[in-house]
Amino acid sequence: MRWPYPRIVAHRGGGRLAPENTLGAIRLGASMGFKGVEFDVMLAGDGTPVLIHDETVDRTTNGRGEVSKMTYPELSSLKTQNEETIPAYAEAVRLCRELGIWANVEIKPAQGYERATGEAVARMTGELWRGAPLAPLLSSFSIGALEAAQAAAPELPRGYLVKNVPDSWQATMQRLGCVALHCHFQALNGKLAADIHEAGYAILLWTVNDPDEARRLLAVGANCLVTDALDRIGPDFR
Ligand code: G3P
Ligand code: MG
Repeated sequence: MRWPYPRIVAHRGGGRLAPENTLGAIRLGASMGFKGVEFDVMLAGDGTPVLIHDETVDRTTNGRGEVSKMTYPELSSLKTQNEETIPAYAEAVRLCRELGIWANVEIKPAQGYERATGEAVARMTGELWRGAPLAPLLSSFSIGALEAAQAAAPELPRGYLVKNVPDSWQATMQRLGCVALHCHFQALNGKLAADIHEAGYAILLWTVNDPDEARRLLAVGANCLVTDALDRIGPDFR
């Protein structure tokens, strides 16, 4: 089991302290000393990967509509809550590299675009992060997206992202060539943590916002915590 990545990672860029999945959020996390960031990547209707969590723009921008039905120029005409625009994945990578930040890139396909999203994000990741000191970790709740990512860029590390951990976790991770299991923090217990480590995999937990809970989970065996509470669980948290 190897975890060469940061131990504390800022969720959706800047957690609760900045509008999610924006460049401003990534900048804020970096300014607070975070060395790792998680963000969500979906395909726009014209195939451009962009940073957004939901299948529609309704919650996070001043527009309405489905991401998969809008072109990147259409998406770019909308404003996020910090008066920015929805970043293209390429812009976010440029910023991370400029700031020296590592990323857990969550492949977040709109329904029906699982393979296309996994393929595009993996292929672009291979190109955009080439030569970076630490390759990003791709993860997804979508098995189809992970399969497509594996086929497109087998050399990139992958995380198996789940809410609850199914009994079949080990077989699935082996088949998908994953290096880490990413699960909801309430799904982990001491026995499971030991089994995951013994099988040779690392453990990333989301979304941990309470410092006491964070300390407990690290003691149980978590290798990495993804947090929204950047002000309470800082980059050097112990
Ligand atoms: O990748 C961890 C976490 O981001 C998964 O949940 O819904 O915040 O993308 P969500
Ligand atoms: Mg996410």
